Amino acid sequence: DSEDADYLISLVRSIPDFPKAGILFRDFMPVLADARGLKLLIDALIAALPVAADEFDVVAGLEARGFLIGPALAARLGKGFLAVRKAGKLPPETVSEEYTLEYGKAAVEVETTAIKSGDRVLIVDDLIATGGTAKAAADLIERCQGTVAGFSFVMELSGLEGVENLSQYPCSALMIMPA
Ligand code: PRP
Ligand code: MG
Repeated sequence: DSEDADYLISLVRSIPDFPKAGILFRDFMPVLADARGLKLLIDALIAALPVAADEFDVVAGLEARGFLIGPALAARLGKGFLAVRKAGKLPPETVSEEYTLEYGKAAVEVETTAIKSGDRVLIVDDLIATGGTAKAAADLIERCQGTVAGFSFVMELSGLEGVENLSQYPCSALMIMPA
């Protein structure tokens, strides 16, 4: 309900000029630290799933903060969890996809055997800003012959066209806040 939604929003911490001048950093760690907040968060993500739970096989989380919600969500849904890692963390053979971040350049990777042809994947992350990270993860999964069932985000930064960059996929975000 709206009291729960207000409570969740109240736990998000906003830090100006981090990690660079002009960036308003949205920190959801206090949500995780709070017993009621964490339960509400997972409940809300499940209530807001962009597709029915029987339309995906596995939950993929994006390093690092997507790792904090993906396994909890997957366990509650009776699914497995796939870690989509940043470059250089995994042993060979890996498949890699480069992207441009709000601040910097990076790449996401999985091991070549991590995704089986036809696997339907729900991608989760704490936040979508430009959508660069999310789009790279989707491209990566598709290059591995997986299917992207949709995206679940905790927060969406408005005005950056992040979700617009993912318009071919079902997407949900619990909180929409200015960038
Ligand atoms: C942040 C955030 C998202 C991404 C969103 O991760 O957690 O994954 O940026 O930005 P985008 O939509 O513009 O791509 P970041 O790589 O900063 O760090 P993390 O390892 O703490 O998750
Ligand atoms: Mg991240």
